[in-house]
Amino acid sequence: MKILGSFPKTRLRRLRKSKWLRNLISESNISHNDLVLPIFVREGKNKVEPIKSLPGVKRYSVDKLPVILNEVKRLKIPMIALFPFTPSHKKNNFGTEAINPNNLICKSLKFIKKKFPNVGIMCDVALDPYTSHGHDGIIINNKVDNDETIKILIKQSLLQAKMGCDVIAPSDMMDGRVGAIRKALDKNKFSNVSILSYAVKYASSFYGPFRDAVGSKSRLKKDKKTYQMDYRNSFESFREVGLDIKEGADMVLVKPGMIYLDIIKQIKDNFKIPVLAYQVSGEYALIKNGINKKLLNDESIIESIVSFKRAGASAIITYFALDIAKKIK
Ligand code: PBG
Repeated sequence: MKILGSFPKTRLRRLRKSKWLRNLISESNISHNDLVLPIFVREGKNKVEPIKSLPGVKRYSVDKLPVILNEVKRLKIPMIALFPFTPSHKKNNFGTEAINPNNLICKSLKFIKKKFPNVGIMCDVALDPYTSHGHDGIIINNKVDNDETIKILIKQSLLQAKMGCDVIAPSDMMDGRVGAIRKALDKNKFSNVSILSYAVKYASSFYGPFRDAVGSKSRLKKDKKTYQMDYRNSFESFREVGLDIKEGADMVLVKPGMIYLDIIKQIKDNFKIPVLAYQVSGEYALIKNGINKKLLNDESIIESIVSFKRAGASAIITYFALDIAKKIK
């Protein structure tokens, strides 16, 4: 690109001299419409409990969900993402709690759809909150088995759709699961239920606090590198997204977010499909701890979210969603 103009005729500071002018020419802005809030649910009644690894984030029993959903509604956040904290005695090697029609996610879906019918809900499809080993799939001969895992993911997706889930979000990284889920949804009259594929999900250290929040961290022995992507790779993301679009994904997700802005931009520039980004738990915790220690100010949150918009994300899943919506109101 040719650089236009030269000093002193051209002074770029002229466009920065006042707030209104900076606002006038700003390229990327965020609104409440760009935000998705993750919510952790737990068992019991009348429980709102802080999560140590995620300062400022809490787990809610189903009856207490209105505490946070009233805020979601007031601040006009379009969608929430539900995650369960499953008690140990309900976990097993096959993650069968995932397909129990009375599990926490099903109870939450029914409750929220009745009390807050206008809030969109996305649900993770993966087995990690339910398996005793903390992996996203079932283990056969010491390996996370792709095709056997898909069979249970299909059941998990159908159950979520039946309970009122709007957006099915497979986060498991098994090959071929998007197509299998789409086919099963269509066959069962759920052709209006969307799929947001975690198409580009890297095996990342930045999921640590989340794994603690859903109670899988201490269980997980090895990493997830045989199914989640290698962070040294970039082109592989084209293949993942291309396949998922062919299989019927309506939207794709890049995860983690802040350290993968190059990937978000590359997907956005090359595929004409909505790209969502996930500012994951480790990224959240870094900023939040920085603010708590007064090393960073609050504006660092907005700056981090605008970076996603600049890269081309349509929306951002972030634990800061309520803080941001309040701040920009
Ligand atoms: C589970 C899942 C993970 C996250 C979302 N869904 C963790 C993982 O894959 O180990 C991470 C979210 C976060 O760190 O905020 N499949």
